[in-house]
Amino acid sequence: MENDVEETLHTTDTRQRHAFTLEQPMPHLITSNVAESIESSVLCWLATVSEEGTPNLSPKEAFLHDGQGRILIANIASPVSVKNIAAHDRVCVSFVDVFVQKGYKVSGRATVLKPGDSGFEAANSMLTESIGTAFPIHSIILVEPAEVVEIIAPSYWLFPDSGPLDRIRDSLDSYKVADYRRRVLSQEVPAAALQILVYGDSLSWGVIPNTRQRFEFGKRWPGVMQRALSELGVPVRVIEDCLNGRRTAWEDPFKPGRNGLVGLEQTIEINSPLSLVIVALGTNDFQSVHQLDAWQSAQGMGAIISSIRRAPIEPGMKTPEILVVAPPKIQTAKGAIAPKFVGAENKAAGLNAAIQDVAREAGCRFFDAGSVTETSEIDGVHLDEDQHVRLGLALAAEVKRIIQLSSSDGVRVPAEHLE
Ligand SMILES: Cc1cc2nc3c(=O)[nH]c(=O)nc-3n(C[C@H](O)[C@H](O)[C@H](O)COP(=O)(O)O)c2cc1C
Repeated sequence: MENDVEETLHTTDTRQRHAFTLEQPMPHLITSNVAESIESSVLCWLATVSEEGTPNLSPKEAFLHDGQGRILIANIASPVSVKNIAAHDRVCVSFVDVFVQKGYKVSGRATVLKPGDSGFEAANSMLTESIGTAFPIHSIILVEPAEVVEIIAPSYWLFPDSGPLDRIRDSLDSYKVADYRRRVLSQEVPAAALQILVYGDSLSWGVIPNTRQRFEFGKRWPGVMQRALSELGVPVRVIEDCLNGRRTAWEDPFKPGRNGLVGLEQTIEINSPLSLVIVALGTNDFQSVHQLDAWQSAQGMGAIISSIRRAPIEPGMKTPEILVVAPPKIQTAKGAIAPKFVGAENKAAGLNAAIQDVAREAGCRFFDAGSVTETSEIDGVHLDEDQHVRLGLALAAEVKRIIQLSSSDGVRVPAEHLE
């Protein structure tokens, strides 16, 4: 095999070809041209071979070159590739910019970096920076190139007079890009799309702890959830109605409009038809201006549920399903919000159980955010970026279950399915 690789050094092939022995992988095999091509390819194809010699080829879109001559591919859902690499480490990865119709075929040796392995953390943060945190990376396939060969569409030599722009124009045409675009645009807000309203406070609004900034949509949990649901094959439109400082059923003496009951029926009306309302409230009931306990706050949640069901929605529209989310445990508040939440961690003791009781009694679904995330160490109340991701992914799985249990138009979940 090694001879084959070395042989390529003496090939008469006129295409760009570089090869080195596998024992001495050369970082500069990923030249700036190759790096550019990798960056402009939206998909790569990873070829591996099983222990028995069966070839396997599968597409990956989460990959990059690490600037050190290696290629990193995220194992999100690639069990066969990973198993094959454990048996035979020889792999081949092809990248093609389909519009320019050129690319590179990189062969070499692969190793699979697992969490805890040396180099995993650095590789993982590079990939995460590129693809975000919505996709779980189980391990990372690290390819050390031994040979890089340029891939060129036959049109380059069959029609040498065509320029790069002609080629891109032809590709747009032959890959029917305009048709796909029309399809997407005409369905961007499909009439039958499931709509989910998130009715929450600053934990859902996505305030960045100890700042007055907001995480962007893709980083706060409603956005993480929307994207994950779409990945799970349940495309939904998430409508956010999240107000900083919102209580369940109480006013803020200093800032008007923080009582969650005020205007809620109209909010439901405005956004109907809704398949699901996710209510994520409770934390602000424990601000220092109130002397409430967990039971009282949970009664506030009960009032919110009743209000949603009372909303005078149009005839023929179904009352939405309700998912009640208990907030993660409040810790001793720190930073600028500390005076606002003095003693909250004690007053809120038992809140998740109290909310669960109310949800069960009302026939709503329930989710305890504290089962997947703590509150931020920075301010003790809100959520950090990774905590938003955890919550968004967990809620996506929960919402998928609810939607599958409910009929498509949003009737109640039968009691026997309730936990
Ligand atoms: C467009 C597209 C992009 C994909 N990107 C990745 C990826 O980056 N990482 C991954 O592990 N799987 C990805 N997959 C899924 C795998 O290709 C798929 O699960 C495949 O069956 C895995 O095969 P394997 O186990 O032989 O590797 C992608 C699939 C498609 C269609």
